[in-house]
Amino acid sequence: MIKRLLLVAMLLGVTHSLWAQASAPDSAYLVAYSDTQGQGRNGLLFAWSLDRQSWHTIGAGHVFMYCDYGTWGGEKRMIDPFLLEGPDGWWHCVWSVNDRDGVVAHAMSQNLIDWRPQAYPMLNPGGHCLQPEMFYDGGQREFVISWLSQAGEDPGVYQTTTPNLKVYSDKQAIAEDQRLDVRQEVQIEDRIFSGTVHRVSWSVIRDLLQAQQLAAYHVQQEQETTDQDPVRFERLRPMEATVTVKGKERKTISNELIGVFFEDINYAADGGLYAELVQNRGFEYQLHDKKGRDRGWTAMKAWSVSGDGAEVKIETESPLHENNPHYAVLTVEQVGSGLVNEGFDGIPVQAGEQYDVSFFARNLGRGKRAILVRLINDAGQSCGEVTVTVTSSDWKKVEAVLTANQTITDARLELVPQATGLTALDMISLFPQKTFKGHKNGLRTDLAQCVADLHPRFVRFPGGCVAHGDGLHNIYNWKDTIGPLEARKPLRNLWGYHQSMGLGYFEYFQYCEDIGAQPVPVVAAGVPCQNSSDGGAGQQCGIPMEEMDDYVQDVLDLIEWANGDATTTWGRKRAEAGHPDPFNLKYLGVGNEDLITEIFKERFAMIYQAVTEQYPDIVVIGTVGPFFEGSDYEEGWRFATELGLAMVDEHYYRPPGWFIHNQDYYDKYDRSKSKVYLGEYAGHLSGRPNNIETALSEALYLTAVERNGDVVHMASYAPMLAKHGHTQWNPDLIYFNNAEVHPTVGYYVQQMFGQNSGDTYLASQVTLSNRSEDVRKRVGVSVVQDSQTGDTLVKLVNMLPVDVTTKVILEELGEIPSSATQIVLMGDPDDRGAKPVSREVEVAQEFEITLSKYSFTLIRIEDAG
Ligand code: AHR
Repeated sequence: MIKRLLLVAMLLGVTHSLWAQASAPDSAYLVAYSDTQGQGRNGLLFAWSLDRQSWHTIGAGHVFMYCDYGTWGGEKRMIDPFLLEGPDGWWHCVWSVNDRDGVVAHAMSQNLIDWRPQAYPMLNPGGHCLQPEMFYDGGQREFVISWLSQAGEDPGVYQTTTPNLKVYSDKQAIAEDQRLDVRQEVQIEDRIFSGTVHRVSWSVIRDLLQAQQLAAYHVQQEQETTDQDPVRFERLRPMEATVTVKGKERKTISNELIGVFFEDINYAADGGLYAELVQNRGFEYQLHDKKGRDRGWTAMKAWSVSGDGAEVKIETESPLHENNPHYAVLTVEQVGSGLVNEGFDGIPVQAGEQYDVSFFARNLGRGKRAILVRLINDAGQSCGEVTVTVTSSDWKKVEAVLTANQTITDARLELVPQATGLTALDMISLFPQKTFKGHKNGLRTDLAQCVADLHPRFVRFPGGCVAHGDGLHNIYNWKDTIGPLEARKPLRNLWGYHQSMGLGYFEYFQYCEDIGAQPVPVVAAGVPCQNSSDGGAGQQCGIPMEEMDDYVQDVLDLIEWANGDATTTWGRKRAEAGHPDPFNLKYLGVGNEDLITEIFKERFAMIYQAVTEQYPDIVVIGTVGPFFEGSDYEEGWRFATELGLAMVDEHYYRPPGWFIHNQDYYDKYDRSKSKVYLGEYAGHLSGRPNNIETALSEALYLTAVERNGDVVHMASYAPMLAKHGHTQWNPDLIYFNNAEVHPTVGYYVQQMFGQNSGDTYLASQVTLSNRSEDVRKRVGVSVVQDSQTGDTLVKLVNMLPVDVTTKVILEELGEIPSSATQIVLMGDPDDRGAKPVSREVEVAQEFEITLSKYSFTLIRIEDAG
């Protein structure tokens, strides 16, 4: 606390002195540079000087712009930035992104603080763009950019011209001495940097210093954790509060506020929610799924041969389906040997339960061939078996039912031909008959139920990054995920594994219907993930324009598939899959936290225009970048406003301190603009736990989101599912293994909001016995009513280390029943195992409850009438 006060005082003091200094110079020198030690990953830095000798950093190492080119980890490098003050009133910055690709990065800003989205024009295909320089040719009214290339057919010095930094002339070789070579070396502290030096008015320096100090202050706020509470709240004693609910100050809020975001990350689909028990059933795993990093990740992954009398080969000639080109040929020379699948970390089965066995087979010998299909345990004993017969020399589906006689989590499935010879096998499946709602090709019951128990009003799928993909060839194509399983097209999962697409669009929509949630499919906006690492430069590029009509048609076909009647081309396919009635799709996400480039914008606009023309009732949800601020956020909002989008998707993963200090984030939103879908958010602490601290910060924030339920229409925590031992991302909402489901404390926060949502928000006045800002920000209150039940839901979050005795005044609500249901989630901040406890409590028009330290309390008061 004291530290913070000092910081605020310092901030006020410093900025005051910056603003008010009577002797401030009229102008100063500014150098723009990057740090080679960080290989440029620490972005654009500034320092200032009055005499070009003695330089002062603007916030040691404070980054004014990061490079967004390429994949995380390896790229995102700003090498040799070159800054130019253009005649158009904009600062332009160009830089190299690596020593490989022939692109130059460009960004522009009016104040050097807020930068417009970056562009990466390809100026030198096959060559380099090193040490770019730029000047404005007033005579020709064009910018000239030159660079060095040491690769390609003709190493040398080149330049291009551009009137607008959008359209570039072909490169032209120039002599080395035609370059301006204006970069200068400056000594900053004990190091020498090379950069561009500019004479600027002092107000430019002052604004940069001020922006850096404000950013530092925000960082300080974000870094507040409960670890510091013993010091921050050293003098704080148990407190009193009064919450007066203003029955007459009410507003309508979204009745679809709390939902879920499903992405196939952390083995959420195959090996997770999708109930298939055989791993790699189609023999379609490829080394490339893991970019060659796992030599065992091949078409034989999870498969092996048992015994010495058999061998297996992967073949591709005359496959079952062109989308499923690989299959296994099992050659048995000695009966008793077979083909074994290990499942996903073993196959969990329960004694007495029935399992559907199926596969496609071709007998490559004569006559028929019996195959024993059995589950085996660690000791090689059978835990259930059935014998089937392969009769055809053409691909034919074989089906049977097997009953398990043991409950184990690590069985294996074995196929043992009962005669010597060759059998071709594909799509070998073992499926529990007990799936969620009993659907064939359905979902794992416990996991699907756990999600359903959140009472989500919508499900967003299939991603996230999975939706827009790792490079153009990896964009998720919904059409590849419907129809017969053997005809679905598997895809490399950008999280480093494989998507069988067994859980496809039909299954997603069916699940939404089963749990009463709106489906929110997300299609790529004609661009892949900007962090792509696969197939090319790794930067966001677009589906070629000549292919965009087909892509737009695919999007329109999705809507017809979901909503068209069974006489339409795509509606018929849905009907044939078993759902003659439309799914009543209402929302369509287009894009996922993309860079808001020209490439993105023109493709998004094409999709948006086509959808709104043909299906004006569909709510298209746009995207405003991966952060709560910054260039894509700003440009995304500008673009959304220009198009008049109904809704945009915001994403932010922040430390608990951010959620504590930004509860007014949506209070400031313009109600006349697009509504918000907060599609991804979560509290991230160091070590990435999901504990009471993160969960309460989310609960606190959600009380503010409910208050802003007139502008925030939907919100979903991310990511949702994670299999123990297979996580690419933490924290998640629900962890699981093959046998158990482990909801997190964050899950219970979502559940308390999801199960207790309303459609009317009632204002309340909160008075605390301690009025300090730090205290006030850690108490959250939200009161909503549900018009369907008439119930009033009071949510009270106490993120303080002391109890708060709270008087709740409900007089303006009229008659109140004498008892209500109270649910409390509480624990130590680092508690990862707390569960909500429910009980009946006495209530009245005025009643008292104690909000325990670090707790979230919910009171459901039924309609007295
Ligand atoms: O939720 C995990 C990832 O976070 C999503 O795929 C992506 O949209 C975001 O960056």
